[in-house]
Amino acid sequence: MKDDTSHLSWDDWDELQSPRPDTTDFDGVVDSAMNRRGFLGRVLAFGSGAAVMGTGLLNSGAAQAQIASRIGFKPIPIATDATVHVPEGYSWHPVAKWGQPLFSDAPEFDHTTGGDLASSDRVFGENTDGMELFTVGNRQVIAVNHEYANPKLNLPQNMDGIPTSAQDVTKLQNLQGVCVMEVAEGENGWDIVVDSDLNRRITHNTPMKVTGPAAGHTLMMTDADPTGRTVLGTMNNCGAGKTPWGTYLTCEENFNGYFGSTDAAFEKPADYARYGIGLEGRYAYEKFDVRFDVSQTPNEPHRFGYIVEIDPTDPTSTPIKRTALGRFKHENAAATLAPNGQVIVYMGDDERGEFMYKYVSNGVYTPGGDTSTLLDDGQLYVAKFNDDLSGEWIALTPETTGMTPAEIAIFTRRAGSNVGATTMDRPEWVAVNPTAVECYCALTNNKNRGLLPNAGGDETPAIGPNPREANQYGQIVRWRPADDDHAATEFTWDLYVMAGNPEVHDDAYAGSDNINAGNLFNSPDGMMFDSTGLLWIQTDGDYENEGDFAGMGNNQMLAGDPVTGQIERFMTGPYGSEVTGLTWSADRRTMFVGIQHPAAPFPDGDGKLARSSIIAIKRDDNAPVG
Ligand code: FEO
Ligand code: CA
Ligand code: CA
Repeated sequence: MKDDTSHLSWDDWDELQSPRPDTTDFDGVVDSAMNRRGFLGRVLAFGSGAAVMGTGLLNSGAAQAQIASRIGFKPIPIATDATVHVPEGYSWHPVAKWGQPLFSDAPEFDHTTGGDLASSDRVFGENTDGMELFTVGNRQVIAVNHEYANPKLNLPQNMDGIPTSAQDVTKLQNLQGVCVMEVAEGENGWDIVVDSDLNRRITHNTPMKVTGPAAGHTLMMTDADPTGRTVLGTMNNCGAGKTPWGTYLTCEENFNGYFGSTDAAFEKPADYARYGIGLEGRYAYEKFDVRFDVSQTPNEPHRFGYIVEIDPTDPTSTPIKRTALGRFKHENAAATLAPNGQVIVYMGDDERGEFMYKYVSNGVYTPGGDTSTLLDDGQLYVAKFNDDLSGEWIALTPETTGMTPAEIAIFTRRAGSNVGATTMDRPEWVAVNPTAVECYCALTNNKNRGLLPNAGGDETPAIGPNPREANQYGQIVRWRPADDDHAATEFTWDLYVMAGNPEVHDDAYAGSDNINAGNLFNSPDGMMFDSTGLLWIQTDGDYENEGDFAGMGNNQMLAGDPVTGQIERFMTGPYGSEVTGLTWSADRRTMFVGIQHPAAPFPDGDGKLARSSIIAIKRDDNAPVG
């Protein structure tokens, strides 16, 4: 029997399928170490409250006054138990749980079967992730991602949850993708509005359109779609985003893991390697659905790894894959506007040693104007960070990359390597500060930093914004565009925080000065600003609370003040879970938070299956929470 790999992270699973070279011998290691010491001094100085760039230097007295006014809750301790904790004066309750009906023709969740096939695309899906709330008339609608499957839970009757039929595969395909659901607050709190005409499930089989430079290219064509312009499904939907015109952006991340080959001798195209596309998928799709069998449909993987735009106000609309935003393991899509109205989308590629990107539209957004090509017609850039705290966005063009526009859109990682982009410690969510012209990106961790190259063979020296070798804790980088213009190609940067453990280490692995015994965490991942300019940080890291991670407890959500660097713990998730996904009700009095892959008994109690859930958090006095 094959080994059970269901417990592995996507990165570890990838590297098991496609091992990196064992050793590297970077010429620059010694030089890098020297740079690292010099650089960290500046970072640590920043963590103590002295900004290293820009305006707004605060003395420590002013900083303290600012702290008192910005973080208005009493920080909570770590937790290691199986439930959610919030500060005094706040409460929470589940809003939507995996398997909960969106429509009245779906039965209530069955803990013995994990739900039936017939209703699997009529219920709230698995592994809740990025989400956004939209106001439609006087109604509130949440669009939310269902990132991947938990086959042992979803197919509890199967050995290790391994699909043994096309029906099993269809059930898993239906439980993933995206959910659009109306929610409303009643006497018992928030709930799904069952049978709302806005409710919709988008799955691995929902028809969608392809636009942008890759649309219609030979590499996008399959027997089922000789046009290369229509695809079934979106998958491994991780983080999200919202356009200025009120559509939802869902981001396809670890799409490679769904493909395999029924022919062990199949010779993989060269470009599979960079994306980790192998001969065995995680869910056995390839055995039962020819689309996912690369020996039969070798171009199908080229049709995933994009950002998809969805109109949450029209359940009959066709989702659109916007290939101008590139193909990689998309984490989220942080959209904003340049002063002249150009649309900017910041994006991370979450894999060890991959890059950060920015898209700038050629046209400008005008309220009520035509937005249909703003995410098709524009320029994609990749980030290069310099050790002197400057950086630049390098345009990915035929001239800079030696690739055609379609190739840049399909093999974006190769384009980034061709221009010497900076290898990063797994870029997760990007967040744009609504109260200052600056952006933050969670670099979650990278055990390969300084030790192994990325999947394209690019070196990963421990320098710049990724300064620690074998980085197990993660950091948050921030940058400010030149001239306060998000369309600018130059920026300055610093590190907002380096997670670490000062109880265990006394070097750079202790973290920056804004880490202390009261706010320990590792692996920042989800990140959103609230309307007041507080940065909410969610974690997806080691929750065993021992060794390097002692004192960190379960994954959690913290609030950070961008000006002072103060970070405090707001919420702890149940054991085993990742805290991911955050949005607010229209009146800002409710915060919706995603709890992904908790361990039982969350939230239904002993003897029940664990269920990924969205919870609502409110203040007891009903004051706004962001
Ligand atoms: Fe789906 Fe990188 O988190
Ligand atoms: Ca994530
Ligand atoms: Ca993560």
